[in-house]
Amino acid sequence: MIHGVQSGQIQELSNKLFSEILLEQTKIMGVKPADEDKKHLSEEVINEYASLKGRGFFFNYMSSGRGHGPFTELVDGSVKFDLIGAIGPNLLGHSHPITIKAHLEAATSDVMMCGNLLSHQEPYKLSKVLLNAVKKSRLKHFWFAGSGSFANDSALKMLWQKKAPNYRLIAFQKAFAGRSIATQDITYNAGYREGMPQTIQVDHIPHFDQNDPTNALQKTIDALNELVKERPNQHCAIMMELIQGEAGFVYGTKEYYEGVFKWAKDHGLYVWVDEVQSFGRTHELFAFQHFGLDEYVDVVTVGKALQACGTLYTEELNPKPGLIAGTFNGSIAALNAGEKVVRYLTEGNFYGENGRMKELEGKFISKLNHLGATTCKGKIGYAGGVGTMISFEVGDSSKDATDKFIKKLFENGIICFSAGKDPVRVRFLIPTCLTDEHIDDIFKIIEKTAQEVL
Ligand SMILES: Cc1ncc(COP(=O)(O)O)c(C=O)c1O
Repeated sequence: MIHGVQSGQIQELSNKLFSEILLEQTKIMGVKPADEDKKHLSEEVINEYASLKGRGFFFNYMSSGRGHGPFTELVDGSVKFDLIGAIGPNLLGHSHPITIKAHLEAATSDVMMCGNLLSHQEPYKLSKVLLNAVKKSRLKHFWFAGSGSFANDSALKMLWQKKAPNYRLIAFQKAFAGRSIATQDITYNAGYREGMPQTIQVDHIPHFDQNDPTNALQKTIDALNELVKERPNQHCAIMMELIQGEAGFVYGTKEYYEGVFKWAKDHGLYVWVDEVQSFGRTHELFAFQHFGLDEYVDVVTVGKALQACGTLYTEELNPKPGLIAGTFNGSIAALNAGEKVVRYLTEGNFYGENGRMKELEGKFISKLNHLGATTCKGKIGYAGGVGTMISFEVGDSSKDATDKFIKKLFENGIICFSAGKDPVRVRFLIPTCLTDEHIDDIFKIIEKTAQEVL
């Protein structure tokens, strides 16, 4: 739907442009090595950019802006499978018709960015589809933020205002919550806040123990009981990623989460779920819906695959005027795309027992297990994940072995990333557009790479 200038001619030209762009992008349809005459480009451009940025890159990756489906072209002309999607945002894959359309429609608008003071129809419509999708919960409002970290900051401020002076927060070991001054303290990895003063008080307790599922809930509850015994009446909320992304997709069961959240409610604590990475990617639009936890959530933060970031919250947590504000909602194109993405996912066959997300999860995990049991015995170990978030361990699950594998995989035509510490895992955030043929090709590359480097 075009919200800017409209005319028959604009529509006709826009349709032509849409087809032309899509046709051009679909030329990028398979893995290929760099072009001889462009081979030097990747390194040259990356090195120059690294010097501007002050730090090097993990991969020699600079996009040419061309790509289609799971394929992305680099400036050197090589084409690779993109199985990390910019660490989450590209859930539908490259040059998806929704993205092209969202851009073209946004070009008819009078501004590039929109914000909180003077509203536009795109943030209004995106808020509406998002809140419509959480009707079974008590979440009633949505506030935009410029990043997942800032969405988390807004959530924390709402909780603090409601529970002042109970400012302590309960979070989980191995959690990642972002890079802002507040979220760096919620993030478990101390290496990410070297030299920083502590700004908020966070107590980290164990998440679901995948090696001891039977006792996992009791271990968490014991730690929680110990904590409130030591620091009674000081906490405002419990903050949890249901599927811990940066930990390499550590996740529990419905019973586990229910046990933890019931404990939180019994102790007068709000439940805050961070879905910045998991949004859109499980067997339901939200991971809290996937695990049937609608009744418990008080605040949910989203980002990445939504193409926008923000905080969903209940009426009770609606903050006083002045606490939450900011210039931007986002770009018109991104917010337009966000609405389309939510509608596409919820109106299509993506969720539920027979949905695409579950199907992709099954295919990836069974193929990884098959490799681990046959040609890659001793080379590929644990494989798991939910929906389009898949992880597996290679070699001795160390950082060295995993990085070596990932770098070789990149050379051989697959882009992915690592996550976690003890064990380190290979992390895929796969796009929904993969065909069976793509998956077969991906597994041939994984098998070859494992045999080359492990
Ligand atoms: C669970 C989780 N929370 C928060 C963030 C921070 O989001 P952003 O990088 O958009 O600030 C991330 C980013 O990876 C994340 O995975």
